Amino acid sequence: MSEVMAPCDAARSLEAKISTGDAVVGIVGLGYVGLPLIDAFTSAGFQCLGFDVDWAKVQALREGASYIRHIPSSMVAGWMEREVFEPTIELDRLSEADVILICVPTPLDHSRNPDLTCVEETSKAIAKVLRPGQLIVLESTTYPTTTRDVVVPILQRNPAKLQVGRDYFVAYSPEREDPGNKDFTAAGIPKVVGGVDADSLDLAVSLYRNAIVDVVPVSSTEVAEACKILENTYRCVNIAMVNELKVLFDRMGIDIWEVVDAAKTKPFGFQAFYPGPGLGGHCIPIDPFYLSWLARRQGLSARFIELAGEVNLSMPRYVIDRLAEFLNESGKPLRGSRICLLGVAYKKDVDDWRESPSFELMSLLVQRGACLSYHDPHIPALPRSDHYDLPELTSADLTSEFLGSQDCVLIATDHSAVDYAGVAELTDAILDTRNAMAGVSRNGCKIRKA
Ligand SMILES: NC(=O)c1ccc[n+]([C@@H]2O[C@H](COP(=O)([O-])OP(=O)(O)OC[C@H]3O[C@@H](n4cnc5c(N)ncnc54)[C@H](O)[C@@H]3O)[C@@H](O)[C@H]2O)c1
Repeated sequence: MSEVMAPCDAARSLEAKISTGDAVVGIVGLGYVGLPLIDAFTSAGFQCLGFDVDWAKVQALREGASYIRHIPSSMVAGWMEREVFEPTIELDRLSEADVILICVPTPLDHSRNPDLTCVEETSKAIAKVLRPGQLIVLESTTYPTTTRDVVVPILQRNPAKLQVGRDYFVAYSPEREDPGNKDFTAAGIPKVVGGVDADSLDLAVSLYRNAIVDVVPVSSTEVAEACKILENTYRCVNIAMVNELKVLFDRMGIDIWEVVDAAKTKPFGFQAFYPGPGLGGHCIPIDPFYLSWLARRQGLSARFIELAGEVNLSMPRYVIDRLAEFLNESGKPLRGSRICLLGVAYKKDVDDWRESPSFELMSLLVQRGACLSYHDPHIPALPRSDHYDLPELTSADLTSEFLGSQDCVLIATDHSAVDYAGVAELTDAILDTRNAMAGVSRNGCKIRKA
């Protein structure tokens, strides 16, 4: 059985390791969130141990290769060359880390309820090897109370009978990663931190202060969890509002993008959000449902959130209806028309297709009998999605022969790598859900926004 330290000894010895930079930082979940954190902590001089259950990812990282487009392989190779990072699938080695940051997925299950399986499995793996003087920080997005009511009880079942707040410490710090946004690195985004007790908070604050530009301590893990959900719900609700206004303004012949650009000249009280074909990614379409599930458990309803979800989820169908009208004006039915969907990733310049509305758009196109093709410079083959039964497709090259054969190009994602003027030159009709054609020469092509 592990040695149990006197109260505060465990905290003091960990604090000393953190302040000298000798603490080993373990990161569980080597994905969109985990890898940028490794960059932040190795850059701050910490040794990092990375854990993942996906052997292929661990193997790629060991070979110095990144599997995420906006994280360069040269960065991963640099960590390996400097010997500051070691990826592994051996979860027993979690005992080697002084600090463990949990960055595993928190999806929805088939009933759109929170699925915390990965967080629970990781907590069990940590509990098995827990030793005195470890700090565990949950970074995955989740509903308020998860750290205290889900993670801590699992950790408390550790065979060494270690006690939280005395022998080991637990905090929550939400990740605010914005993949593909070159203006921010993980180290440059202020980090909100809440602890399950005072020592846990102090240790977590002290850790992040070594690596992150600004650390914002809050009074509890629940406040930190709620903060992340507030941020994402704020985006979800505001995007739903502009999506709803898009439908209204479009009917009146008013361009929503022009309206938003005009409104954002107001120097206070307004933040610009833009419409689109629906919501995508691992956060904004999912996290608000964590909150509405929590509200139901409290006997309340989160009406704004439910409504925003409803509006955003209705967008792909709206876009396809607009596409059918657009084709109809040229005497073409949607059934049998050749439609190239431009952009499968959920947002520009990334290769992340999770929850992308493009899948719903493609599914509706197939259901309505369109001949579907797609182009995405960052997604060479259409990934298999559990929720959609789509044909096996590879990204079509935007040649004159291909574009000339299409009845319409449907822009779903405004990747910078696409030559939009070139597309307009080679095809007859474009339906643009992202305002990607703004300021681009039409070259005789019919362009409609949706
Ligand atoms: N992607 C984003 O932009 C973003 C931003 C902020 C917060 N988040 C949140 O961060 C969390 C992680 O998201 P992500 O986008 O990095 O996911 P991801 O899928 O890119 O990475 C998660 C990794 O965890 C691994 N994993 C799953 N179960 C595991 C286990 N039991 N033990 C070890 N590894 C395991 C997976 O193999 C995967 O490599 C989620 O809660 C998400 O909501 C994501």
